Amino acid sequence: MRIEIEDLHKSFGSLRVFDGLNLTVEQGEICVILGRSGQGKSVLLKHLVGLLRPDKGAIRIDGTDIVPLPEKQLYPYRMRFGMIFQNAGLLHSLNVGENVALPLLEVRNRSYKATMRKVAEKLRAVDLEGKENQLVTTLSGGQQKRVAIARALLQDADCLLFDEPTAGLDPLISQTVDEIIVQVNRKTGATCIVVTHDLVSTFATATRIHLLDQGRVAASGTPEEIRNSDNETVRKFLARAMTATRDEG
Ligand SMILES: Nc1ncnc2c1ncn2[C@@H]1O[C@H](COP(=O)(O)OP(=O)(O)O)[C@@H](O)[C@H]1O
Ligand SMILES: [Mg+2]
Repeated sequence: MRIEIEDLHKSFGSLRVFDGLNLTVEQGEICVILGRSGQGKSVLLKHLVGLLRPDKGAIRIDGTDIVPLPEKQLYPYRMRFGMIFQNAGLLHSLNVGENVALPLLEVRNRSYKATMRKVAEKLRAVDLEGKENQLVTTLSGGQQKRVAIARALLQDADCLLFDEPTAGLDPLISQTVDEIIVQVNRKTGATCIVVTHDLVSTFATATRIHLLDQGRVAASGTPEEIRNSDNETVRKFLARAMTATRDEG
């Protein structure tokens, strides 16, 4: 999936969140969107899946602007995004296979057998082959994240959205989550968008980095370019984030 956000404006009352934001995400990349707390990272993800509408601007998905689309025509685009929630969003009363199958079990006219074949295929993609019958509660945090990703892949999502995937996790588990993101991206070719303020995680995963500041993208570049940038907003963000703890705000 290729995403082009052009001249995005969004305010909540007098609070201006986006003020002419431009951002392009290329097919297959791991795009990390960095920004301090409250800069609109979560709001941006909600615009991608159509849960929020901008006041102005275009969001083109593979060339089609989804902003003017009515809800019904938005649906197929929404299905192409897989949102990985922070706590993985799994149901503990169901086993691994049922958790992955959930989005399809809700759709009628689909055979259980065909669904489970697909489940097996997606579990393979996240290195959880054959774990269908295991209880979710017996899985590690990292494995639960893999199950959540498998579920997103099952509905044929070709863009995975991660909202602060390492927030509140200790460094070791954070590293595992970073590795899972890179691995799934390589294995499935899905475009990944990660919003975070975690620098360690950013440089461990990103193929491209954008820094969100005051309603716009203040800087974009490869990890190397951002690391060596002399852009003042970037320097300030990096300096501040280096001294902050990983899971701060
Ligand atoms: N539905 C909403 N109504 C009003 N204000 C909102 C809404 N959603 C987010 N905001 C505000 O927009 C700003 C950006 O929020 P958010 O995207 O959640 O920031 P973050 O970068 O921390 O994810 C914040 O000031 C937040 O309070
Ligand atoms: Mg947020």
